[in-house]
Amino acid sequence: MKKQMHLTGFMIYCPAPHMIMSWVYPREKIRHQWTEVEYWVEIAQTLERGKFDLFFFADGWGGGTNAASVRYAIQFPNSDPLCLIPYLAAKTEKLGFGATMSTTFYPPYMLARKLATLDHVTKGRIGWNIVSSIAKGEARNFGMEDLPPHDERYDRADEYMEVCYQLWNSWDDDALLMDMENGIFADPTKIHKINFEGKWHKVQGPLTVIPSPQRSPYLFQAGQSDRGREFAAKHAECIFAAATGTRQMREFSDDIAARCERNGRNPEDLKIIWGAQPLVAEDEREAQARQREIRERIPLEASLALMSGHFNYDLNSLDIDKPVGDLKVPGTQGMLEAYTKSNPNITLREIASSYLSGNDGGPMIGTASQVADHLIYLLEEGGGDGFQLTPSYYAPDYYADLNRMLIPELQKRGVYRTEYGEDTLRDRMNERASRAGMRAAE
Ligand SMILES: Cc1cc2nc3c(=O)[nH]c(=O)nc-3n(C[C@H](O)[C@H](O)[C@H](O)COP(=O)(O)O)c2cc1C
Repeated sequence: MKKQMHLTGFMIYCPAPHMIMSWVYPREKIRHQWTEVEYWVEIAQTLERGKFDLFFFADGWGGGTNAASVRYAIQFPNSDPLCLIPYLAAKTEKLGFGATMSTTFYPPYMLARKLATLDHVTKGRIGWNIVSSIAKGEARNFGMEDLPPHDERYDRADEYMEVCYQLWNSWDDDALLMDMENGIFADPTKIHKINFEGKWHKVQGPLTVIPSPQRSPYLFQAGQSDRGREFAAKHAECIFAAATGTRQMREFSDDIAARCERNGRNPEDLKIIWGAQPLVAEDEREAQARQREIRERIPLEASLALMSGHFNYDLNSLDIDKPVGDLKVPGTQGMLEAYTKSNPNITLREIASSYLSGNDGGPMIGTASQVADHLIYLLEEGGGDGFQLTPSYYAPDYYADLNRMLIPELQKRGVYRTEYGEDTLRDRMNERASRAGMRAAE
């Protein structure tokens, strides 16, 4: 039985998630605008038809202060996916949903309660992408001048997780009676205050939500730094990671496996999902032409504005034709190193012009057979468990094209489910290759 690939759909509740200008599309081909809930339902149902594990929503709590980001809709405006997910869950049966919530901005009790409720509403299909936030502009919407320092954010998040675990476990399994004959709703001796008092958080408990199908949301995280990886190895069940090329992927996945073992965990219990942006068409030339057309409409200013947001630094103020190694950009060396490692003289202009493709170039653009070969090769050489796929054009059509071309190809190779197996998101992420859905591989 071949190792099975996990696929997730990456979106932000905004006009264009990762590929700037992907909101620009021939008017006659748009069935619903991103502002209409029907657009999101169509994406969710398409992902479900493609047997994706998850509809993932990245999120942020700032934006709109930079002219280029407003002019080109760079991850702005963005609405709150927590309000959208219950609607999408009602229109689907099996698809999981990932919500991004920040440990810096949500009080832990509020977050634990919301996610427990969402786990009920989605019938055990909710996941949480744990972030501690990165941008000063976000802090300024919550009464802070700036974010706490990087490592302290993770220290706070460690403590935060402890509060959440205790809240999610504050009801014993048999606490809820709903005994109608005797009129007893629940056993008060089996529901516990947590009386948590840490360095940053103070929470009495118990949680006011009855235990949910998964009891706690499936936990995602995307830390790339040393401290972030340590956090992931302790708490996460799945890491979203960005890497350019198999060498970087292998370095990352081996490092995460070693950290898991040091934390007494089986590395198989911590999945790694890589960001990727394949573009599939009936023939290679058509795919290449489409990709060129998409790239050409992206202004450099817009690309730099997106990168500035991710790097938390105004890159438009720098000389973009100098090798980035010569630029002193505080706080971004780790992220820039990913590029300078493979090309020490790379300039910001070069990075910006390919930044949005979210992949390591050519092989992600082509026929279904070529892209399937490449995805399988990446996992074999680089490790990890699957891909987070980001649309580069009108999202409902992008995912429908993957369903029509790429998904059957992966199924034919025996590396992707033909039916959903387990019901909850956690069980599905952990299902082994022998489940019902793997008929094509047998
Ligand atoms: C694939 C991926 C998705 C991410 N999604 C979000 C997000 O939705 N919201 C957010 O605030 N940060 C997001 N991040 C940023 C991470 O949470 C984290 O802050 C960043 O990777 C830096 O981690 P580090 O400080 O450990 O290096 C994402 C990162 C990656 C790689």
